[in-house]
Amino acid sequence: MTQRKITIAIDGFSSSGKSTLARDLAEALNYTYLDSGAMYRAVTLYCINHHIDVNDATQVEAALPHINLHIPPALSKTFAIHLNDRDVTDLIRSMEVSAVVSEIAAISAVRAFLVAQQQAAGKYGGIVMDGRDIGTVVFPNAELKIFVESDIETRIDRRHQELIKKGNTTSRLEVKQNLLHRDNIDSTREDSPLLKAKDAHTINNTNLTRAQQLQAAIDLVESVT
Ligand code: CDP
Repeated sequence: MTQRKITIAIDGFSSSGKSTLARDLAEALNYTYLDSGAMYRAVTLYCINHHIDVNDATQVEAALPHINLHIPPALSKTFAIHLNDRDVTDLIRSMEVSAVVSEIAAISAVRAFLVAQQQAAGKYGGIVMDGRDIGTVVFPNAELKIFVESDIETRIDRRHQELIKKGNTTSRLEVKQNLLHRDNIDSTREDSPLLKAKDAHTINNTNLTRAQQLQAAIDLVESVT
């Protein structure tokens, strides 16, 4: 593999396995990893903690100047996010946040606020960023774009198992409803809907192991570097 450091955009629906792939790929390439969804989740946590109505775009926009996000430079395994100097890496994964994060992410002012920070983080390449609009809006010129797909039942099982492992008692039905709710808002919102970029490569990982999906992505990296 050559040493040229590129920008890799990974998009897909919730729990499609894109974060796992993005982390594994960043680690294999020694690139920076950035989970853009964590930024939307951190803004959501701020709004919940400050009793801001997530459906009131004006209220949410007024809160943005009070939100300082910091992602300590680190390799993929230790990705963390700080909200106003507090490490909220675990707190942002709660169902309470998942329940309303897509409402927050549909607000244009929030997107503009976060996209600018994501673009600054990826300015020098050597980054793997995952999300919903990375290949279409954040880095439309990324050298490699991957769209991760997985069937819905597999996605529900993965997220349900992940929550159980963390001691969460959320039912499979609640997980399913949340994923379908977010899929719907994420793909129908007016600003930056979840779309597969025209030049993205699809990896469907329904029947792939973690190692196999990583290898498929590495093959793609080698084809463009
Ligand atoms: O981990 P999971 O796939 O469940 O979601 P996430 O990547 O943490 O993203 C949480 C939510 O943030 C998504 O459902 C989207 O509403 C929003 N998001 C977005 O709009 N754009 C991104 N680039 C990343 C996330």
